[in-house]
Order: sequence, then C-alpha cells, then structure tokens
Amino acid sequence: MNMDKQTKAPLFDALMKYRDKGPISFHVPGHKNGQIFPENAKVFFQELLQLDATELSGLDDLHSPEGAILEAETLLAELFHAQKSYFLVNGSTVGNLAMVMAAANEDDTVLVQRNCHKSILNALRLAKVRPVFLEPEFDPQWKVATGVSPETVKEAIHQYPNAKALVVTYPNYYGMAYCLEEIINHAHRYQIPVLVDEAHGAHFISGEPFPISVSQLGADVTVQSAHKTLPAMTMGSFLHVHSERVDRNRLEDYLHIFQSSSPSYAIMASLDLARSYLASYNAKDLVYLQTKINHFKEQLAEIPQIKVLDYPDQQGDHLKVTIQSRCGISGFELQSKLEQAAIFTELADPYNVLLVLPLLKSGQEYPFDEAAGNIKTALAGLPVQEIMDKSWSPKEKIAELAIGYKDMPNFQELEIPIHQAGGQISAETVIPYPPGIPLFLKGETITKDKLEHFQRLVESGARFQGGIQLSEGKIKVFTTA
Ligand SMILES: Cc1ncc(COP(=O)(O)O)c(C=O)c1O
Repeated sequence: MNMDKQTKAPLFDALMKYRDKGPISFHVPGHKNGQIFPENAKVFFQELLQLDATELSGLDDLHSPEGAILEAETLLAELFHAQKSYFLVNGSTVGNLAMVMAAANEDDTVLVQRNCHKSILNALRLAKVRPVFLEPEFDPQWKVATGVSPETVKEAIHQYPNAKALVVTYPNYYGMAYCLEEIINHAHRYQIPVLVDEAHGAHFISGEPFPISVSQLGADVTVQSAHKTLPAMTMGSFLHVHSERVDRNRLEDYLHIFQSSSPSYAIMASLDLARSYLASYNAKDLVYLQTKINHFKEQLAEIPQIKVLDYPDQQGDHLKVTIQSRCGISGFELQSKLEQAAIFTELADPYNVLLVLPLLKSGQEYPFDEAAGNIKTALAGLPVQEIMDKSWSPKEKIAELAIGYKDMPNFQELEIPIHQAGGQISAETVIPYPPGIPLFLKGETITKDKLEHFQRLVESGARFQGGIQLSEGKIKVFTTA
C-alpha cells in the first residue's frame, strides 16, 4: 500500500480548493456557504457550512464518481484490501439495506444472526426473503448475547444448504469478537456469501490489540459505521466489497435507490479524513492508546460499586469498556447516576453500562482521570452488593418465522394485553434499545420464556422500540379473523 497516497484526503482538498475561490453561490443549498443562517446559531455552523457544498465542478458526484470522490473511495478500498469501497451518507443502516437486497430475492432463504441491528431486519422484510434466525451465544458473566457459534452456523447450513446469504454482526455492540473465519470458510464451501455488519469495527484494521478486521477474514461484503469509532461525522459509513459473490451492479443500484440524491459533502469529507487518520495510525499510537486505556481501567477497577469486565479469551475491542453494576442498581440506573455527574455513556442494559473510548493518537489528551474521578464520586456511598442474576437465554438455536413477510398482509392485527400473548404470533417487533436486539420479532411466536424475560426488562427499566402500546401493557398479534 502506498502510504504517501494514504495521507491525502482528495475530497477534503477539493472542497478547500472550492472554498478558496471565494465562491458566490446561486445554487442549492439555501444557506449559501453559511452566509444565510439564523444569527444565534451561525457561530456554530458557519465554518462547517462552507464544506456543505453540492455537485459543483471539481466536487464530483457520489452516484457517479469519476473525480475526487472516486479517488477518495479508491484510497479507502486500498486501505481495506477491498475490490471496491463506497462512502455511505446514511449510516450503516443504508449499507445493510443495500447488501441484503443485493444478495437475495423474494422467497430466498437467508440465514441471519438474531441479535442483528434493526436495519438488517428491515432489509429482510423489504426483500421479502425467508429469514432463518440463528441464536447467538450468551455470555453468563457479561449477561449479553455475543456472536453465533460455528456449530450453529454449520447446523443451519446443513438444514438450509441453498441459503442465498449468511448475515452476521461482528463485533457485537460491546466490542466482543468471535471466531468468524471458520464460519466464513464454511459458508463459502456452500457458495453462500457472508455479509458482515461490522458497524462497530471500522478501526480494527489498525491491528493488534484490536480484534482482526473482517476485511482480513474473507467476508464478501462488510459495512462499517465510520462515525462510531473513527473521527467521522454522524451518518458517515463505509461499505466494502471483497468478492464477486454478490452482484456489484445490483448493490450499486440499491445504494442509488436508498441514498439521497443530495449527499452531504461535509459527511463525505469527514469520511475521507477519517480514512486518512486511520491509515496513518501506527504502532506508537497503539502503544500510547493502550497505556491510556489501561490506566483508565485501573482507576475504574478501584471503584468497588462497579466491575470492569474482561473479554472472554481476550477477544474484544479495547475502545469499549463495559462496567457492571455491583451496587444493587440496574445498569440503567447506573447510567443515570453517571449522567448526573456529566458522564454520558453509549448504552445501558439491565446489568451493564458501555463506554466508548476515543481512538487517540500519540500525544492526544482525553479527560480520563476527570471521568474516573466523577464516576467514583457519583457512586460513593452506594452499598456494594451483587445484582440479582436474572440472566436468560432462549432455547431455540435456529428459528423461522411462524408467518413470513409475504403472507403477513393476509392476516389482521389485534391488540391484546401482553400477559395473554404467550403462544400468539407477534405482529410487531419489540426491541429493547439500546442495544437493539429484538425480543419479539414480527411474525414470530411469543414464547412463555420470552414473555417472562420481557417482564424482567420492564422491571429493570429497559426502554423499548416498537410495540407502541407496550407502556399500556398491550401488544399487537396476528389473527385470521
Ligand atoms: C450493529 C449495528 N449495525 C448497524 C447499526 C446502524 O448504524 P448507523 O447508525 O451507522 O446507521 C448500528 C447502530 O447502532 C449497530 O449497532
């Protein structure tokens, strides 16, 4: 790889060149390079709005790139050893939609890790495929779902050898990685393309101590939320194609359909810069970052009210730190306590709170000491006691929907009290959020143990997406009458 080239940021440079012309705008957007903007907010937006351009001469076109955007995407592909890479301006959400739609047709069987993001579920629904959900493993210490095991995947492929795609998430939201290589190799033996939602792993390409990047494992298509762990603007993401198993023309077609015809140049330029930042991330930076993280974790480990969790088999993302409550309160309550001390975290679940750390380069500072001090003060005085273990793992490893996406319109929906829903087929998807893992899937049977788990989540203060009448104790189910 040519490292000199990787230091460049062609799209950002093109925008700088454009700005240096002192342009007078008679085109969209209406803020006219930041000149027309509400006065009270101008000071915050003005600099950035100079980058919020449109498809002007020299600035290329995301939907038909042949200049600065093509150059920037080519550098991205080179960094990730991809055949082709794309900037996404609507998050990994749009990448997930496009990759699933490109890989499968109506009625095709698609194997999918159950604890996938809702964008994958939406993609399956739009594509009207027959999903087969693969249950992930469950970590009893962390009390969270991890990844799918090779055994589950092998059994699923044995049952559904004609599946048109396998969709997995790597790493999970908490940064836990797992043995994906064996899974990919097995799927490829059956010519099944492997689509990986690597939303949380864009930085893995920098090497150890981060887990191995999917780009190095032979997956066919990967999607990464650059904005989650790299210095990129929210919604900025990457999509990489590594093989011909998924039709690239179809994939591009769906990217055109799903993405705006007015993509944000500010987001795209930030992606260009984030790629350059990542490419220049070196061994010295890794050592510096690791030292900072270790010191922060050591400080947290001294706080008796929490436990800093270690990754099983050391396989996990060092940019994520998960703390578990040991003071009798739920993870949600722990998160609120930290917010009162101005510590804003990524997510909480009934037991844990997840912190996402910055990808610091050597010499960059971050207020870790202040944060550790604030956390200590916020929790001081809370009695140390383990929270009750109410962990749960479902019984089925491989499951299909009871009513498929294509047949759903033939059924009516009925709202019933949730305590009467055992054995019924859910007409809505209910996702405790974050981390966005569906508990009840639209079209799936509501089992008794899931219903009990739902009750425990309610008691521990979990929030839910979907299930509009859940707060009234009601859920929609399918009925033929
Ligand atoms: C695993 C996973 N995939 C996809 C997404 C969607 O990513 P984005 O917010 O970039 O659209 C998320 C968001 O949290 C996620 O956690």
